[in-house]
Amino acid sequence: MSMFKTVRGMRDFLPRDAKELIYVEQVTRELAVLYGYEEILTPAVESYELLAAKSGEEIRQRMYVFTDIGGRKVGLRPEFTASVARLIATKLRNAPKPLKLFSVGSLYRYDEPQYGRFREFWQANYELIGSDQPEADAEILTISNHLLKKLGIRNYYFKIGHVGILRGILNQEGIMEEQQNQIMQMLDKKRWKNALTTIKQLGASRQCLTTLKKISETKGKAAFDILKETEDTVQNYRNAVAAVENLRQILVVAKAGENKFETLIEPGFARGLEYYTGIIFEPYVPELEIALGGGGRYDKLIELFGGESTPAVGVAQGIDRIVLAMKKQKAKFKIQEEKRAVVIPVTAEMKTKAFEISSMLRNAKIPTEMEVVGRSVSKALSDANRRKVAYAVLVGPEELEEEKIVLRYLTTRKQKTVDIKELVKKIKAAK
Ligand code: HAM
Repeated sequence: MSMFKTVRGMRDFLPRDAKELIYVEQVTRELAVLYGYEEILTPAVESYELLAAKSGEEIRQRMYVFTDIGGRKVGLRPEFTASVARLIATKLRNAPKPLKLFSVGSLYRYDEPQYGRFREFWQANYELIGSDQPEADAEILTISNHLLKKLGIRNYYFKIGHVGILRGILNQEGIMEEQQNQIMQMLDKKRWKNALTTIKQLGASRQCLTTLKKISETKGKAAFDILKETEDTVQNYRNAVAAVENLRQILVVAKAGENKFETLIEPGFARGLEYYTGIIFEPYVPELEIALGGGGRYDKLIELFGGESTPAVGVAQGIDRIVLAMKKQKAKFKIQEEKRAVVIPVTAEMKTKAFEISSMLRNAKIPTEMEVVGRSVSKALSDANRRKVAYAVLVGPEELEEEKIVLRYLTTRKQKTVDIKELVKKIKAAK
């Protein structure tokens, strides 16, 4: 036994697992095309400063950070959004907006490994850059909804909030951004008690505390009723009222037409990332306590990176967790298994011809394996059966004299002698 195993929190994907992940990845790509998002590839290693800038304490503490041989302080990307914002502030600075960008790949966070939480995980990330209109937020929500529906996930719902509600209140109370960020981190961890104590210590008004307490108790499925209730609660805070109105407009657009989805409106909901300025949301299924994705609006990040002030909204779908949800709910991975052929030389002298026939089949787009370990026909056939290969092509000296081979259908165990010239046609006809 080798002493080597995977590093804690890291996983191998053997063919079956890899197929499931790749299937979901493929569907996220199809949606990118359907909505007009162009795929980009950004590096897995970025400067620490970039990754740390506005990710928030939560992610900053869990980043894989190291000094490269050239002495640069770098990190493995914990998300795509920082890289996309860097591009908009630099190479895509003058590109016409809106820009719609899609990325899929692996990310790294030193999270404590547990169910649905890995140190290397996959996201499909969609960013819509250059619009501050509610229909842009609605589009991002809709992509998320469309993906879950398309994958056959049932009973999912979107937990939705708006950063402008809490920030609007805290701003009007004169609480500085730095402290607001700390408070938001507490709320992301659902530590309302701590948050309220901190806010009190910072000298917030009585009205502020009662408003926030009420907000912490407000949540529900009936989106527009909850929004009305929230609007009443925050009526003395102008920007918070505007945030509720913005959320209402987004939901009016997003719920139009056939886009049915369940919502859980939680005005006091916060996300770990610090850059959000508007709507925030996370899809869930009842079977799992962890979010299948996360997204929101971030209108200040690009200028923070030295770009022009550019509004943006996006979402990252957690591919690993989507796979877990699909398995829990027994949703179907529509993985196409193509029928395969194996070419077996009957004697050692037939190897070259078998090799040649294998090439001929592959050139005709028939997935073909060649018997490469020199086994007897019966051993090669039983192995092919075990691996659910559909056809075996037996290349023997007698048939070859007449430019023929034996084609065996492994499911029915029938076989016939076929002209080599006819082989491709015969196999295609059997499909
Ligand atoms: P996030 O909420 O940090 O947002 O991550 C999005 C999703 O990635 C999570 O909901 C989860 O499904 C998956 N995920 C995160 N950490 C792990 C982990 N350790 N193991 C497995 N899955 C994980 C972002 O990353 C933002 N960049 C989303 C965004 C894009 N906002 C605007 N644009």
